[in-house]
Amino acid sequence: MEKINQKEILALTLQRMYWIETEMEQLVTWEARIELEGEHKEALEILSNDSDKHALILEKWLNIANIELPRSAPRGIPQKGFDFYRTNVFEMFSEIRKYEILARNTYHSITSAEPKVLEETFPDEEQRGEFIKDMKHLVAEEERHKRICDDKIGGFTRVL
Ligand SMILES: [Fe+2]
Ligand SMILES: [Fe+2]
Repeated sequence: MEKINQKEILALTLQRMYWIETEMEQLVTWEARIELEGEHKEALEILSNDSDKHALILEKWLNIANIELPRSAPRGIPQKGFDFYRTNVFEMFSEIRKYEILARNTYHSITSAEPKVLEETFPDEEQRGEFIKDMKHLVAEEERHKRICDDKIGGFTRVL
């Protein structure tokens, strides 16, 4: 996989993830919560609450690195609404799962950015270590979210 090898690309990647956490993951899980009327509430609450926490972690690092919080969709991110009317549970969790995988992979690519890019973005060594630790934590959480979706999808097909 191509490594993040430029400071600006790391900045853009963090902005995109901030957008995905605050907009996409929230829209998709809340749309599912609305249509499911309380079913699978626990799983969906974990996904959206964690997403809120992830956004706060990103906000902290964007501030430290002096990178602006995006106010509109960063380039490359589609303006998307979700409509799960008459959509079954399998399809909903399959859709949510795509974002969990995207988030997991993107946080992983942040952890493996070129060392010089990380040094330029976070000159303080201790801070840099903390940043990597936070990003690894996000990788683990997104992996957990993906598994929650896997379970729902698997569970649903078994019921069929
Ligand atoms: Fe997240
Ligand atoms: Fe997630």
